[in-house]
Amino acid sequence: MRVLSLFDGISCGYFVLTSVLKVKVEKYFSSEIDGNAIRVQHHNHSDKLTMLGCVKKLQEREIDNLGHVDLVLGGSPCDQLSLVNWRRKGLHDESDSGVLFKEFVRILDYLKVKAASRGTELFWLFENTAHMERSVKEEMSRSLKSEPVQICASLFVPMARKRNYWGNLPGMHDIPLMPKTSMTLQRFLRPHRAATVSCLPTLTSNITSQLSGSEKLAPIVYDGESEYLSINEMELIFGFNEHYTDCDNISVCQRRKLVGKSWSVHVIAELLKPLAAIFATDE
Ligand SMILES: C[S@@+](CC[C@H](N)C(=O)[O-])C[C@H]1O[C@@H](n2cnc3c(N)ncnc32)[C@H](O)[C@@H]1O
Repeated sequence: MRVLSLFDGISCGYFVLTSVLKVKVEKYFSSEIDGNAIRVQHHNHSDKLTMLGCVKKLQEREIDNLGHVDLVLGGSPCDQLSLVNWRRKGLHDESDSGVLFKEFVRILDYLKVKAASRGTELFWLFENTAHMERSVKEEMSRSLKSEPVQICASLFVPMARKRNYWGNLPGMHDIPLMPKTSMTLQRFLRPHRAATVSCLPTLTSNITSQLSGSEKLAPIVYDGESEYLSINEMELIFGFNEHYTDCDNISVCQRRKLVGKSWSVHVIAELLKPLAAIFATDE
């Protein structure tokens, strides 16, 4: 499989395809600009990724140079689209990150035309927050010529993370409405650390996102004191290996920002799973 991943962050896509689904990835092109995210990519996947830098640099010539692409992945920054940000600038303000969505559409549309002219299949997946204005979601759907499915990570792990997923992956619109996982937060904690809630709220880059309810309950009690999740616990809940983001001198705060922006491994694995029956795997 040859993959182009835009806004690749800490390469959740590569982790899922290779470590979870065991798909043989021949090429994984990664567009990302955040220095710490790139450090984590290098640390975990070293020379397996081809780094492309800023998505805007990917013009027709650069895209042609990638050769054949089977799968396009992307989740453009959502901070200017999320209802949580009352100063959000939406999809059209050129001075901020909301407009980057259009880069995904531009590149996807170009690759779709190339695939059609060659008679090959192009799979794609685009993710963004479920907490956006209806008009923004509708505009995204019109641009992507597709309706999203909404999936919450709480189906698989004890944390809320509702996201919209657009794409053409086999079966993605038929994922059954399952009850939330029965797995509790306690399962992810080290001994002597007691969970105060069974399911976490939506975790973001901000540590206070871990507090639940109007009484702002911290998720853990250790030795009688309220505590936040450790960064290793956070990595495990997102589905990564412990220490996935632990490299060079990246601080715990920076690691939390990277994981807080990441996809949930379990959800992406569920969405990409049908591709393991289509492309070569190691099993
Ligand atoms: C919501 S995060 C995506 C996280 C990713 N899906 C993951 O699982 O880690 C959006 C990412 O887009 C990256 N980004 C922002 N501007 C970019 C640009 N111009 N070109 C490429 N990536 C960009 C950010 O650094 C951030 O890592």
